[in-house]
Amino acid sequence: MDKEVNRKPVIICRCNDVTLDDIVEAVKAGIDDFEVLRRYLRIGFGPCQGRSCILLAARIFARLTGKRVDEVLANYRVRPPIVPVPARHVVAGVEE
Ligand code: FES
Repeated sequence: MDKEVNRKPVIICRCNDVTLDDIVEAVKAGIDDFEVLRRYLRIGFGPCQGRSCILLAARIFARLTGKRVDEVLANYRVRPPIVPVPARHVVAGVEE
């Protein structure tokens, strides 16, 4: 039996519906930089800001490219807000 027939997509970034196959195809297409991959597939750009997908995507990318995870994440920076913030708080600003 062919294992590929019943294979379900493996979601890596659930905020942006990025699958394992999307990452594999992007690497096969020649993307060899994790930041480029992130921007191309929008990994970590969802409401959770990558809290549940960045490390997973980095490990997969490292395995596919033969790089170390710390090397893959060398240029990755966590930018505020690090937790989801309702837009009304941003619009209202801070009262002093
Ligand atoms: S799961 Fe990837 S940004 Fe939320």
